[in-house]
Amino acid sequence: MRDNLRINGDRLCRRLQELAQVGRIAGDGVCRLALSDEDREGRNLVVGWMRDLGLAVKIDAIGNVVGIRAGLEVGPPVMTGSHIDTVRTGGRYDGTLGVLAGLEVIATLNDAEITTKRPLAVAFFTNEEGSRFQPDMFGSLVYTGQLSLAEALATKGIDGATAGDELARIGYAGPEPVGRPRAHTYVELHIEQGPVLEAEGFRIGAVEGVQGISWSEFTLTGQSNHAGTTPMRMRKDAGYVAAEITVCARKIAQALDGYQVATVGALTLSPNLVNVVPNHVVMTVDLRNTDEDRLQDAERRLFDFAQRAAATEGVGLTRRPLARFAPVGFAPHLVGRVEAIARDFGLPVKRLPSGAGHDAQIMAAVCPACMIFVPSVGGISHNVEEYTAPADLGAGADVLLRLLLELAE
Ligand code: GLV
Ligand code: MN
Ligand code: MN
Repeated sequence: MRDNLRINGDRLCRRLQELAQVGRIAGDGVCRLALSDEDREGRNLVVGWMRDLGLAVKIDAIGNVVGIRAGLEVGPPVMTGSHIDTVRTGGRYDGTLGVLAGLEVIATLNDAEITTKRPLAVAFFTNEEGSRFQPDMFGSLVYTGQLSLAEALATKGIDGATAGDELARIGYAGPEPVGRPRAHTYVELHIEQGPVLEAEGFRIGAVEGVQGISWSEFTLTGQSNHAGTTPMRMRKDAGYVAAEITVCARKIAQALDGYQVATVGALTLSPNLVNVVPNHVVMTVDLRNTDEDRLQDAERRLFDFAQRAAATEGVGLTRRPLARFAPVGFAPHLVGRVEAIARDFGLPVKRLPSGAGHDAQIMAAVCPACMIFVPSVGGISHNVEEYTAPADLGAGADVLLRLLLELAE
């Protein structure tokens, strides 16, 4: 009977659509920045669903929310989940699929009146995205003891707000100690957010690991001056150095080939006027690679270049690390199970690395962890056009259901 059990795809899609109304933006996208009013509203909705499904809801001191379904035995739960915060220009599925598919698994088990041996838990972690507060994934980092609670609470956001104040303001500074309950295993379903599965005709990704991530913020300080009268050789143009660093990042990615990617995603110029040489720039660089040595090579090349370019222009340069994660490999036996279950369901499955960061990579430090991917149409994500076909959402949730059932026995 358990092998024939399937989730209800319509119910999953309905919850996804309802959550997508919270913080909805033009183009059917979503803006629920971490610890914002919209995040609070989304949290309230999901916590309500957790309670309706009979889960015991625990909220910890960094605002991570875990809904627990008792098993026949007492012990660490088999955990699934993801995040419900989004980037400012987010889509409807990034993170929310993992959380709501977890709830769909619980609903399916409730309907079938199945009690598993081990408890099950569905979690959503605070500030996975890192768009507002860095580092990203700080909820799961605190949960797993890889970042102190005090440090996370003291984090200043891009708008100057402090994470701890915002957490209290939205009413999600919970009473539970962080890191409880400890997970027996952690499985996260997520959209791929890249083009590989769709382009190659696969329905399921068995994720082998997550590439390394290096985020830096550069501050460049030059001298503002008249755009018409200042000879080129006498300029201290912070904007020009920012442009050189941007081009250098692209060239490093091209030179290292393979999986190296490089992005300048945020850049502010001051005073940002047509006829004034910019004297101040704050910019970010995101470097990622599946190979730690290559990632370090990319960092070295970029940081050295930035120093030289700034010095040549007479511009001051400082670098602030925003986030740094080494590549993580998922538990091979779990990756194998994702692959086998997908095959069993007749779903074409491919092993692949994740290009995006995920709470699963953080959880992998404390328990066996893995991820299931479903295709993203056009490989589009962190964009309001993010889309995954309902049949693929359901297929991923079915693989999740089967794996959670196996692990909970
Ligand atoms: C998180 O979404 C990331 O930037 O990988
Ligand atoms: Mn995500
Ligand atoms: Mn994301």
